[in-house]
Amino acid sequence: MTAASDGLDGIIAAETVLSHVDGEQGRLIFRGHDIEELAGHVSQEAVAALLWHGFTDEAAAPETISRALGEARVAAFEIGRPLLPAAAGLTVTEGLRLLLAALPDTYPLPHHLLATAAMPVFVAALARARQDAAAVPPDPALPQAADFLRMLRGMPATPDHVAALETYLVTVADHGLNASTFTARVVASTRAGVFSSVVAALCALKGPLHGGAPGPVLDMLDAIGYEDQIEPWLEHAISDGDRLMGFGHRVYRVRDPRADVLKTVALSLRAGSNRIRFAEAVEAGALRVLARLKPGRRLDTNVEFYTALVLEALELPRDLFTPIFAIGRVVGWTAHIMEQTRGGRIIRPQSAYVGPMPKAAA
Ligand code: ACO
Repeated sequence: MTAASDGLDGIIAAETVLSHVDGEQGRLIFRGHDIEELAGHVSQEAVAALLWHGFTDEAAAPETISRALGEARVAAFEIGRPLLPAAAGLTVTEGLRLLLAALPDTYPLPHHLLATAAMPVFVAALARARQDAAAVPPDPALPQAADFLRMLRGMPATPDHVAALETYLVTVADHGLNASTFTARVVASTRAGVFSSVVAALCALKGPLHGGAPGPVLDMLDAIGYEDQIEPWLEHAISDGDRLMGFGHRVYRVRDPRADVLKTVALSLRAGSNRIRFAEAVEAGALRVLARLKPGRRLDTNVEFYTALVLEALELPRDLFTPIFAIGRVVGWTAHIMEQTRGGRIIRPQSAYVGPMPKAAA
């Protein structure tokens, strides 16, 4: 048996047709399309059509998927609304975990559709419940991004906000075998079902080293505060053993291509603002500090840095950042779940035992 790989680094654990992360070139491909071809150009429904193609019975046209998701949002609203009081006192991410876990395995709608539709419905309702505001029912005629902002705010969002959120949801729809997607595939491989796999994926996503990073990116910007504090603050953080949120990646050896896509969106919403200028200065400072204090390992900007700036520019509260990531990533999770259950074996690696052996009988 070979030695254990720390963090499964370098292990190929699945074959997939869905997405390719080229860490050397800084390229992300969804089924033959570079992310730059998709983000900002197509809807979340179109990416769902692309990623789900061949795994589902229904026709894969984005309009068909949009209609089906609209109907599934209405169903999700009816399932989730009576459960909202049970989420009182929880964070939105914890509430989302609770509501997703309540989706019945016997529900007579395609489960990848219901899971995907449930995300914006549940997140919006949970966020409003926290402010003692009644949940706003979905409008099944709208695309997911526009309907999410409408359900959250209680009024239609401006086209630039919808377009920015749409670009974000498309950008994060899938990303190879990241921790949450791998988790989804492990659970799916036991045939536990789509909803259980999605709940498990959300649990993996919420960690600060994965989808929990963007809120802390803004906390970091706030804590640094002033331009002349950037490098001293970052050096101090690293010497304390902290990680700089929004930097580093297991696979990318160059800049995460999603960072550029989302930087463009952030600039389109907040061009010339002090916040963006300060963020750019922090990014440049962090890259210098990381090159100095962590030599031998190219640590560059990852998706979460400009995610934070985009979601902040959309005036979304920080504790919604991880659930909103889930609204985008569920498309990839469900595609991987369907790919995994199409004949994949149960995922069952081995461990290398390094504990003591029983004492030999006297
Ligand atoms: N800040 C400081 N040091 C870092 C950072 C960072 N952001 N990232 C990696 N390092 C250091 C590690 O501490 C390690 O050094 P050490 O051995 O001296 O402690 C070295 O770089 C090597 O780390 P990697 O092998 O590249 O990192 P790994 O693959 O284990 O982790 C991860 C990747 C979790 C993304 C890491 O870079 C990190 O914690 N980043 C900050 C959190 C973050 O932004 N997460 C979002 C990632 S994107 C996403 O999940 C959607």
